[in-house]
Amino acid sequence: MPTTQREGRRTAAEAYHRPMAAPDTHQHRVTVRLRPVQPADLPTLCAFQQDPDSCALAAVKPRTTDNFLEHWRGVLADDTIIPRAILADETLAGTISRFNREGEHFVGYWIAREHWGKGIATRALQLLLEEVTTRPLRASVASHNAASLRVLERCGFAITGKRHEPATDRFLEADVVSLILRAPNATAQPAQRPPSPL
Ligand SMILES: CC(C)(COP(=O)(O)OP(=O)(O)OC[C@H]1O[C@@H](n2cnc3c(N)ncnc32)[C@H](O)[C@@H]1OP(=O)(O)O)[C@@H](O)C(=O)NCCC(=O)NCCS
Repeated sequence: MPTTQREGRRTAAEAYHRPMAAPDTHQHRVTVRLRPVQPADLPTLCAFQQDPDSCALAAVKPRTTDNFLEHWRGVLADDTIIPRAILADETLAGTISRFNREGEHFVGYWIAREHWGKGIATRALQLLLEEVTTRPLRASVASHNAASLRVLERCGFAITGKRHEPATDRFLEADVVSLILRAPNATAQPAQRPPSPL
């Protein structure tokens, strides 16, 4: 594993501030709502995904501004993707999306570093799950991303497996956990790690 990657992960783990309030309390500190992503959001969202701590936690490489804008033009033109801006007290704080890979539905999300630890990702995923009722839904998370694993498990996702993934143009080398939110009375199948839409 490259030295820079090890350092990035350590930095991310150390940088994440656990919320001081209890789980049921911190969700009430911020009002979260979702709306469609608008082109005017993209410069702000681009800056979010260029934060080194965030990238290390998600085990992804940041997109350049040009690549990010080109990628999101594709996302916004793709009817199979459901991308939502996350507003925290009406401030743009991140994105959450449902997207499809190889016939499976996945969720992915990204919260700006300054907004971590306020229950925003948990509430945003709850809201997306109310809006998007297709099941099963899947997620893939780097195993060191304890915050994202916690968000998914609080929203009912269950772990189905873990595998080692090599580095790619988009992802850092990482152990990756697969999760599923099942339809009632359904069983899970392992999923491959998809490209991130974020
Ligand atoms: C992961 C991420 C989405 C979490 O967003 P968030 O708004 O801070 O998440 P929430 O506050 O809703 O919940 C985080 C939970 O993880 C817990 N947590 C945070 N760090 C933790 C740690 N190191 N170990 C265990 N639990 C941890 C928090 O206590 C909280 O749980 P609680 O509500 O039971 O107290 C955010 O850090 C992020 O966007 N990171 C960069 C991109 C990314 O990783 N996206 C997900 C890719 S799968």
